[in-house]
Amino acid sequence: MVPVITIDGPSGSGKGTIARRLAARLGYGMLDSGALYRLTALASQQAGLAPQAPEIIDIARHLACRFDEEGNVFLNEENVSRELRTETTGAIASQIAARPEVREALLQRQRDFAQAPGLVADGRDMGTVVFPDAPAKIFLDASAEVRADRRYKQLIENGFDASFTALVEEIRQRDERDRNRSVAPLRPAEDALVVDSSDLSIDEVEATLWRYIQD
Ligand code: CDP
Repeated sequence: MVPVITIDGPSGSGKGTIARRLAARLGYGMLDSGALYRLTALASQQAGLAPQAPEIIDIARHLACRFDEEGNVFLNEENVSRELRTETTGAIASQIAARPEVREALLQRQRDFAQAPGLVADGRDMGTVVFPDAPAKIFLDASAEVRADRRYKQLIENGFDASFTALVEEIRQRDERDRNRSVAPLRPAEDALVVDSSDLSIDEVEATLWRYIQD
């Protein structure tokens, strides 16, 4: 079986950065499952559909997307990496992700990422639903303020406008929706290592997780 390392956690916990670092260090592939929910949100927006529209299930099932080595994401061969990261797309993704039929439509596509020599899978339910048998599971958390601060810096660095107060509120709302939904709620798998990164640098988090993976 292909070794899979799952990294779950709320928005802004640093999962994405850590997943990329670990994947590069191990020579493994990488699944950014949030991007699949964001792509579904973007494609639905482009089609003028509301988050509850039934057509979204088909959109999720037939997404024509591609990820390249530099971290670019393509939808119907158009580079959508930038649109994908906006807060609006994230908020719609979180509403769409609360629908069980959408999650089901994306399930096999996510499992297909598990190819030799291995996979680092980043998301909300990687350890609980998508790869329940993964030998190494991590749940990365941080306080809402720390996560909003990281997201704020990331947005500004990428040339987006942002308000810190609005971000804290958005992060709280998104957490609430992700943790309380009836299907695949955000929570650590029973056998996951839980790391609170509020007071840790990204290098310290990487060192902690690297030790765990080597054990
Ligand atoms: O970058 P950020 O952590 O804010 O979000 P993301 O990982 O790109 O995911 C966007 C949204 O998709 C999240 O708010 C979740 O509601 C949803 N999602 C999910 O339900 N399950 C996953 N495995 C990944 C994302």
